[in-house]
Amino acid sequence: MPELAYVNGEYLPVEKAFVSIDDRGYQFGDGVYEVVFAFDRRPYLLHEHMVRLERSLKGLRIEGVDLAEVDEVFRELAKRGDFPRAKLYLSISRGVHPRDHLFPPKGTKPTVVATVRPIGEADMEMIQRGLTCVTLTDFRWGRCDLKTLNLLGNVLLRQESFEKGADEGILVGSDGVVREGTASNVFAVLDGKAYTHPLNNFILPGITRDLTIRLAEKIGIEVVEETFTLDHMRTAEEIFLTGTIAELVAVTTLDGEAVGDGKPGPIIGRLRDAYYEDVERFIKSGD
Ligand code: PDD
Repeated sequence: MPELAYVNGEYLPVEKAFVSIDDRGYQFGDGVYEVVFAFDRRPYLLHEHMVRLERSLKGLRIEGVDLAEVDEVFRELAKRGDFPRAKLYLSISRGVHPRDHLFPPKGTKPTVVATVRPIGEADMEMIQRGLTCVTLTDFRWGRCDLKTLNLLGNVLLRQESFEKGADEGILVGSDGVVREGTASNVFAVLDGKAYTHPLNNFILPGITRDLTIRLAEKIGIEVVEETFTLDHMRTAEEIFLTGTIAELVAVTTLDGEAVGDGKPGPIIGRLRDAYYEDVERFIKSGD
């Protein structure tokens, strides 16, 4: 099965899928997106992703999107892609219009694009080793809670992390508060409790972050949604990241220093087990 795309109502091979050079997504990054994991040909946590998508659209004042259709596109692509593990990507831009910073005329149709691509088996060697992270100063814009196509800050910061030899960059405000990764949310375990940045404009409300909090509650791990500083994080027993594709993964090296004993700790271990139990439940349930 080829990697498939969807463009404004039509399913077609990725190589045949195009949008206009006048698309506002291309010109301004003026749009929103979602990344959804499909297990066994069905989108996981789709409702949660749809709720966030709607919030992002409202945040950007993009109108005229048929959300029931978008929901169906996710399901249909997961099915048609026919991969046991797949990445569904969907973007909605403000549409096509000759370049002008002002919004295009009312009634301009948003451009809806989506793809399905296979994801390989989880890299167990990497998961057992844990990730290497560096900390970087966050210079992104003031609405990181919206999942917009304009990812220039994230792109530059991720590239800088890579060039420093790290798997991911952890972004810190000028006030020393730890925010999130370039494409993940961050948790730090301090005195046995898992701290994570509270939901506000400085971080993306991650679907995996939210699931992690719910799973933690279920298995008796205390989560504290409060800010913590980089100095504090350097003393953490464990650090871990959450994200749709990254899932839940330990950080074992931070700025060249071992985190805890340098191995993934017990809390991330229990949470990962709970996460995979939830995935198994989802696969079996067919819901
Ligand atoms: N990124 N924070 C940022 C800045 C992100 O880009 C992401 C995900 C997350 C985690 O959110 P979630 O659990 O909903 O995936 C947090 C996606 C996967 C991406 O851009 O590819």
